[in-house]
Amino acid sequence: MKKTWYKEMAVYQIWPRSFCDSDGDGIGDLGGVLKKLDYIKSLNVDAIWFSPLYPSPNADYGYDISDYKNINPEYGDLETFKKVLDEAHKRGLRVFMDLVINHTSSEHEWFRESMKSKDNPYHDYYFWRKGKSDKKPPNNWLSCFEGGAWEYNKELDEYYLHVFSKGQPDLNMDNPKVREEVKSIMRFWLDMGVDGFREDVITYISKDEGLPDGFPLPISTGIEHYKKGPHLYEYLAEFRHDVLDHYDCFTVGEGPMMTTETALEFITEGENQVLNTMFHFQHMEADSIMTDWVSVPFSLKKLKKAFTHWQNELAGKAWNTLYLENHDHPRIIDRYGSLKYRVESAKMLATMCYLQCGTPFIYQGQEIGMTNIHIDSLDKYKDVVTFNNQKVFAKIGIKGDRFLKLANKCSRENARTPVQWDDSPYAGFSTAKPWFELNPNYTEINVQAAENDPNSILNYYRKLLKFRKENEIAVYGSYKEHLKESRTLYVFEREYEGQRMLVINSFTDKNVRFEAPSGFDLSKGELVLSNYRICPLSDNSFVTRPYETRVYLFK
Ligand code: NOJ
Repeated sequence: MKKTWYKEMAVYQIWPRSFCDSDGDGIGDLGGVLKKLDYIKSLNVDAIWFSPLYPSPNADYGYDISDYKNINPEYGDLETFKKVLDEAHKRGLRVFMDLVINHTSSEHEWFRESMKSKDNPYHDYYFWRKGKSDKKPPNNWLSCFEGGAWEYNKELDEYYLHVFSKGQPDLNMDNPKVREEVKSIMRFWLDMGVDGFREDVITYISKDEGLPDGFPLPISTGIEHYKKGPHLYEYLAEFRHDVLDHYDCFTVGEGPMMTTETALEFITEGENQVLNTMFHFQHMEADSIMTDWVSVPFSLKKLKKAFTHWQNELAGKAWNTLYLENHDHPRIIDRYGSLKYRVESAKMLATMCYLQCGTPFIYQGQEIGMTNIHIDSLDKYKDVVTFNNQKVFAKIGIKGDRFLKLANKCSRENARTPVQWDDSPYAGFSTAKPWFELNPNYTEINVQAAENDPNSILNYYRKLLKFRKENEIAVYGSYKEHLKESRTLYVFEREYEGQRMLVINSFTDKNVRFEAPSGFDLSKGELVLSNYRICPLSDNSFVTRPYETRVYLFK
């Protein structure tokens, strides 16, 4: 496959509100990012993806944008952003912005204008529709976040569409003026020096003609009419040709419910490619069904199947993303690892994921093994998704403490607690009470403690990412799974220009005998990464320890 910088990089994701506060208001900001740039660089990553930094009334913490060409005053201003960009570039770190164009905030000027009258030039920037004759909304769609997908406006006697919260009206991408606005936003940031975009729910931007009723579901009814709409490809191609092709930039599209088949329509390399790569979700469903809120026992076989499928189907055609955490999911150690073996399992999970073929994305706090938080009262939650689920689950009798228990396990807010920098009050995140609950385990789990421990998760991440940087096999090597039927071990091989690498991962606290697959002589391999002290091997097998990982390189 063609070699290029975005395949070789690793990306660090910042969810700014909870990263680091520099001005003592309890909210993370760009001053905090500036202070931590050397730290980020020290992880051996090559780029930062910022979750939205733009002005926002925070109906969905930044994913509801009220001004696309500015910075949220809670985080700083354009000058500070330029400084961050410049300082990041000086350190060899690229910077990607979050591009949220499926919807704006209901407080965006375009939406305010659109509400003024039916003949306002901005009215057609959104989906305003008459209700049905019986005073029902225009169709039966349900939002992903907040009940029905339509909100009524009395003055206009029309409804507007919001696939997410009420504060996030969907943009009408079929309007060429809206597409021009998107291009202008892209150019604004690219001209400033930004290196690309993570494109939020980009696969939703085109809706089926006539907005027909959808198949009834508990949430997101209607999704089949926009999850890959009729003009999606065409609009992405337009953005590529009119804007992206004129810059050396990177795009990763978020594709909920994406299959490999569909993804390949957009990311297959060559003339018709419209995105560099995509975030897909199948590997995030090894302990859940469709949503994190419907959990089932973790299945390693399900996890392996998802990873291997994406590795095999994209091989030689398109580029993959590799991630285990972001701001939308509970922490991974609680899900696929073990709290008892937190350090071992965190290292194993990172090795398993980031030594596959694709670009690694690491979410803030993941590199020190942050875990889910136990919250003792529903009042302390902040997110529209948690509140919506409270209503959804109440309908089936899951209320009060039972719902609280569920939220503790399943809410994405688990990933949004402030980053734990040290063991001082407020974890070195701020000098004031943080905007959201701090995980009390910060006294033990924090960056400072991890810096001082050569065997910390943090130092392992550094080693792992350095290894990937220095060994092309880890980036460009082919992928082959072994021991497919094992319910406890995930073993795969990479191969590149005569070299081979064997990656062995245990997903259990039990001891399991591992026999090297035929063709591998472990005594001839160099053990390049591991999460335990290793004794010399007496034969071509060994017994794994809890959540053990080993990487052997054969030159
Ligand atoms: C996906 C984002 O990652 C999520 O945080 C957000 O709530 C939705 N898109 C809506 O923008």
